[in-house]
Amino acid sequence: MKSVVVNASGGLDNLNIIEKQNPAPGTNEVVVRWHATSLNFHDYLVGTGGIPVANGTIPMSDGAGEVIAIGENVDKWKIGDKVMSMFFPNWIDGKATFEKMMFISGETINGYITELSVVRANALTKIPDGYTFAEAATLPCACLTAWRGLMVEGNLQAGDTVLIEGTGGMSIFALQLAKMAGAKVYATTSSEEKAERLKSMAVEAVVNYKIDERWGKTINRLTKGGVDHVLDVGGGSTMKQSIEAVAIGGHIASIGILGNGRKGEITFPKLFFKQMRMSGIAVGSRIMQEKMVDAINASNVKPIIDKSFAFDQLADAFRYQESGKHFGKIVLEW
Ligand SMILES: NC(=O)c1ccc[n+]([C@@H]2O[C@H](COP(=O)([O-])OP(=O)(O)OC[C@H]3O[C@@H](n4cnc5c(N)ncnc54)[C@H](OP(=O)(O)O)[C@@H]3O)[C@@H](O)[C@H]2O)c1
Repeated sequence: MKSVVVNASGGLDNLNIIEKQNPAPGTNEVVVRWHATSLNFHDYLVGTGGIPVANGTIPMSDGAGEVIAIGENVDKWKIGDKVMSMFFPNWIDGKATFEKMMFISGETINGYITELSVVRANALTKIPDGYTFAEAATLPCACLTAWRGLMVEGNLQAGDTVLIEGTGGMSIFALQLAKMAGAKVYATTSSEEKAERLKSMAVEAVVNYKIDERWGKTINRLTKGGVDHVLDVGGGSTMKQSIEAVAIGGHIASIGILGNGRKGEITFPKLFFKQMRMSGIAVGSRIMQEKMVDAINASNVKPIIDKSFAFDQLADAFRYQESGKHFGKIVLEW
């Protein structure tokens, strides 16, 4: 079987394809034949060396495939079942703890750009009905994060207003999930072409964050007092404007640090005057992922796949992600 590995972390030229013996399942384990993965910003950081990993690690936190062998003591799956991976394979349910989060797929343990792997039977979920492997492979990181930010921590209700920032994978899922739940969506982007595409998806208004540096204030004005939910993707580079954009009593999901946003300034009186809540989000648990799949099955949400690459094109796919041309998800299929 073939796998892609990160050889000496530190650049796209160090992503190599290796061959290994096919694995066999142990007790409580299954073998999955993976068919697709998708790109997240986290994977880009692993691939380019921004997040150092052990030499020989298989990158990519998302995978979708089929069960092809079953170990002893497994009754959850049968051969042929279509499954997808979990970002935190140890986080089954309940609140996050260090132990539940210490294994991160495609970072501290092997990920899923591989033909086969052995996986603990309880570290997989089923894929939504009628989804292709490529579609399912877009869900475990980006969609679950959006789901948790809006539905679990945000307790989104029909009629609420939502601001998504940028048009990457996580943000476009947030748009689709918010619309599915009957919310009104506002958006920012850096591109006029993407703004038109957002409008065609029934977004109420789009602000170009490159042209309008005070986009948070603009969203506040357009919504006559701010939005109920913000999914913040820039941390230090966006949080000030996200706080401007949020309504009194609203919720900000702190999700990313795009645009060099590891650190930043916060105007604290705005936090308490607005009586807002902020939640730090790191993907989610298996139970959250299962509920997200149930919700997708009850709706007609389908991932927006911008571009598909082949197994041996991971570096090209990362270069495309780096260009920022994509709208929604980038996948690899094999
Ligand atoms: N905490 C978690 O659990 C979690 C999970 C998933 C993702 N994330 C984070 O969420 C962010 C997005 O991830 P992704 O995988 O969806 O990335 P992605 O698909 O690579 O999307 C990147 C997009 O973000 C937008 N963007 C870039 N810089 C921006 C800025 N300064 N302000 C606003 N938007 C900006 C751009 O959209 P336009 O082209 O429209 O401008 C860009 O296309 C990343 O920071 C990632 O680490 C966190």
